[in-house]
Amino acid sequence: MVLDSDYLQIGGIKKIISEHIKLESMAEEKGKLKESTLYCEKIISNLKMLKKLDSNSPSYDNLIASWEKRKTELLNSNDITKSVREKNKTVKSDGKGLIGQMEKEFRERILSLISDSKVKWSEIGGLEEQKNTIKEAVFFAMAQPDLDVKVPNLKNILLFGPPGTGKTTIAKAISSNIDATFFNVPVSELMSRYVGDSERIVSSLYGVAREKSPAVVFLDEIESLLRQRGDGNKNAGAVLQQFLAQLDGFSTDESFVMTVAATNVPWELDQAILSRFEKRIYIGLPDVETRKKILEIHTLKKGYQVETSIQSIAEKTTDFSGRDLSFLCSEAIRNMLRRTNRDLMKDTDRVIGGGEKVTYRVNPIEDRDFYDALLKIKPATNNEMNKKYQDWREEFANN
Ligand SMILES: Nc1ncnc2c1ncn2[C@@H]1O[C@H](COP(=O)(O)OP(=O)(O)OP(=O)(O)O)[C@@H](O)[C@H]1O
Ligand SMILES: [Mg+2]
Repeated sequence: MVLDSDYLQIGGIKKIISEHIKLESMAEEKGKLKESTLYCEKIISNLKMLKKLDSNSPSYDNLIASWEKRKTELLNSNDITKSVREKNKTVKSDGKGLIGQMEKEFRERILSLISDSKVKWSEIGGLEEQKNTIKEAVFFAMAQPDLDVKVPNLKNILLFGPPGTGKTTIAKAISSNIDATFFNVPVSELMSRYVGDSERIVSSLYGVAREKSPAVVFLDEIESLLRQRGDGNKNAGAVLQQFLAQLDGFSTDESFVMTVAATNVPWELDQAILSRFEKRIYIGLPDVETRKKILEIHTLKKGYQVETSIQSIAEKTTDFSGRDLSFLCSEAIRNMLRRTNRDLMKDTDRVIGGGEKVTYRVNPIEDRDFYDALLKIKPATNNEMNKKYQDWREEFANN
């Protein structure tokens, strides 16, 4: 496991190595062999340190070996010209190799944020007003006006509300609907994992997003930008500035990059961040009608039959979020399966280990399946929290 503090060090060490490679090269060009050897030693010891800290990263051994070779050459060499010639053959390419490798790793990290899970608008129950606001914003941001007018730029949307209400799902639906590349950016992880590099990662992130246009950059837990600054993360202020600049989005090319940010704690955001989001949309706990739709999505639309009144379950699930409801349905489905396949369940080891293909029965979900599930699944938010969201919504939301 790589600790957060290690990431801070890794970024710093890589910068130092790049600097030493340049200095080593300059010393040699001036014929200062001793100085050049000294830089070689520094590079080697820093590479060794990197190898220890960054055990996930490949090929430090090769780099260390080339610089060891280079050092030996320098120590054995009395002939400056020969030394320069040898170096050009071997180590210079390795020096570039190191920087190139770092750039490659960096880009790979950004590309690893791309998620290809697709969500249709119809898989999100209720929230009609919010969905329409978002669809309209995306339409006007993407389509072309028939007159040469400047269209108001709406490329940043903030979704706020209690956990499990569908914020991430909505961001994915926006992206899927326009066939965009979806960058799933957990901001707190980005801040701690890439501390040494995190300023650079923000501009690279948006650079790659522009390259892959149309793109949606989903900044999850955006409040972490401010939290980490409070926690004494020295880079956090600079990273925040980078994000704010990207959110201002003065790109000159034709690319389309939309930023969708999400938070459960909107009151932790400051004015600088809020002012970048012209649309701040409340994704609240579902009302009874919406709960009914969500229950249907997680049962009927998945192919199950339901022999109970979904309306009555919806009425019994005040304060349940969409996530709580999806868990409730999964639990009810499991209850039905257990009930229906008791004979098979007696001997699961034989069934699983026996190599034979086994099918199990699927019956309609009944009242009792839901009632047993209701004993286990409880809502994750409470009234007090809801009041806090409502108050914030009244003051700051604008959809
Ligand atoms: N309106 C909804 N319709 C259908 N399913 C929903 C809805 N809201 C939430 N869900 C279900 O709950 C799960 C969690 O939703 P999601 O991850 O979008 O919540 P979130 O608001 O991003 O939560 P968090 O704030 O904890 O990140 C989804 O995978 C989906 O199954
Ligand atoms: Mg989420």
